[in-house]
Amino acid sequence: MLILGVESSCDETAAAVVEDGRRVLSNVIASQHELHEEYGGVVPEIASRAHVERILPVVRRALADARAELTDLGAIAVGHRPGLIGSLLVGVAAAKALAWTLELPLVGVDHIHAHLYSGFLHDNASVEPAPEESFPALGLVVSGGHTALYHCRSPLELARLGSTIDDAIGEAYDKVAALLGLGHPGGPRLDALARAGNDRAHTFPLSRLGRESLDFSFSGLKTSVLYRVKGFPGQSPAPAPLDEQGKADIAASFQRAAVDAIILKLTRALERLGDEGSPPSTLLTGGGVTANSRLRVELARFASSHGLELKLPPMPLCMDNAAMIAGLAFHRVRAGLFDDMTLAAHPNSAL
Ligand code: KG4
Ligand code: ZN
Repeated sequence: MLILGVESSCDETAAAVVEDGRRVLSNVIASQHELHEEYGGVVPEIASRAHVERILPVVRRALADARAELTDLGAIAVGHRPGLIGSLLVGVAAAKALAWTLELPLVGVDHIHAHLYSGFLHDNASVEPAPEESFPALGLVVSGGHTALYHCRSPLELARLGSTIDDAIGEAYDKVAALLGLGHPGGPRLDALARAGNDRAHTFPLSRLGRESLDFSFSGLKTSVLYRVKGFPGQSPAPAPLDEQGKADIAASFQRAAVDAIILKLTRALERLGDEGSPPSTLLTGGGVTANSRLRVELARFASSHGLELKLPPMPLCMDNAAMIAGLAFHRVRAGLFDDMTLAAHPNSAL
């Protein structure tokens, strides 16, 4: 079955065609970064307007790249939550229009849930075992809007174990990058800069939130970096402006603390699930920050030292994309979980 996925939750207009929930036949992403750069962040009104202009060319391109016709499709899937409401509405309206006119099933997918599925997608899925064989799994979502851990029992069943109580990790990356004058989007630029830095130059706080908590907190880390760069409130004299090496050292040290916080909570979650008699066999990961070079290395080390199979999305599927929407939708179709024309966009995740 070929499913067309549509994704427009934030500032990426995306469409993809995925076969049987595994094989990515096309993955088209029109990024709007250049439209938002001068504002230092995503402007919702500009994002919605750009989605309206781009959605149909992006869908056409996804079909052409997949060498598919509209009549080859078996369902239309759309990320309908969470996200910017005006942005989501564009994708939802486009998906409904396609499903209605083609008389195809419409499937609404949670964007966060779809990120967790992205590690199952490949160009050539025949070499990989079926996703169902990878459960139970521990799931980690690290994106610009979310940072959370899940206990996943199947592709469709999951329970949240913990999440951030303040900033998402990607948000912390973006704010620290802005502080260092790296521009928008900051995460990838900070990642690149950190390569030239000494990750032991500064010791930034790692938020544990008590002994048991599986929640995250990144605002203290962010504030600590702010004070290191700009000085404490009332500090006199203020710290000297940073040179390139100084910025790289801050970037590398921040990144060490941020990634260590993720690994700490993964370790706790694994212990908790083991104590509860449901140890996972797999670590599912997804979200824009899984593109981070340090996190990728540390996740691989963590998984291998705990005997977990690691599902790390290929780089083009780390950031927001529609292949993950179409991939997860396949499982909803198989379970008969369809939506109708009342499908609504929601700013929050259902997870
Ligand atoms: O999943 P995503 O594309 O959008 C959301 O659903 O939020 O994630 C975007 C986030 C941004 O905060 C971006 O700065 C961050 O992912 N990001 C990175 C890297 N690439 C993207 N953060 C750190 N290192 C990277 N290489
Ligand atoms: Zn996302």
